[in-house]
Amino acid sequence: MNEVIKAILERRSVRAYRDDPVERAHLEEIVRAGLYAPSARNTQAWHVSVVRDRAKIEELGRELKAAIIRGRVEQYLALANSPEYRMGFGAPVFMIVSADPDDSPCPKQDSALVLGNMFLAAHSLGVGSCWVNQLCPVTDDPAFRQKLDGLGVPPSHKVYGAAAFGYNAGAHPRPPIRRENTVSWIG
Ligand SMILES: Cc1cc2nc3c(=O)[nH]c(=O)nc-3n(C[C@H](O)[C@H](O)[C@H](O)COP(=O)(O)O)c2cc1C
Repeated sequence: MNEVIKAILERRSVRAYRDDPVERAHLEEIVRAGLYAPSARNTQAWHVSVVRDRAKIEELGRELKAAIIRGRVEQYLALANSPEYRMGFGAPVFMIVSADPDDSPCPKQDSALVLGNMFLAAHSLGVGSCWVNQLCPVTDDPAFRQKLDGLGVPPSHKVYGAAAFGYNAGAHPRPPIRRENTVSWIG
């Protein structure tokens, strides 16, 4: 099978990570693949913060929980109140993808494509990954924003996605069953 299609079919979200760091060269390749994503009107109005400092990841995770509770973000309240919830699943690398909504007509879509490319590149290098969505609804919380500033997220940007990266500590997850009747062929 074509290697690209094989990677697309085999990639899975990984939610348990080994402690081992990911080589800088691998991370650079992963980010490079992200930055080659298509973008609306080729604005490339995105930014990727690559956080490899575990203390900073934990610190951001603590502020994330506080911001979700402060903002009463219904969708994630139970998660934020759970002592088991750990932003990034303890992975050694956490990436934040943001974009300037005034600079791109489709910042959300652009950011998702960056993450999609990075997930596939990571998988092809034996690195696991998983999207972490909880940051998006609190991107404008002032205290959380301060932490984002400290991680290089540009002030005019909103966070549209984030993800954990690292080596899978468990078995490779099985592919979820595909939902039926999601395609129409005409002609
Ligand atoms: C927009 C988006 C948000 C997601 N948010 C989370 C999340 O917050 N936490 C999580 O564990 N997985 C998250 N995921 C991963 C999905 O749960 C996962 O892709 C889905 O269950 C299919 O599994 P697979 O990635 O192994 O194919 C998210 C995926 C997408 C595309």
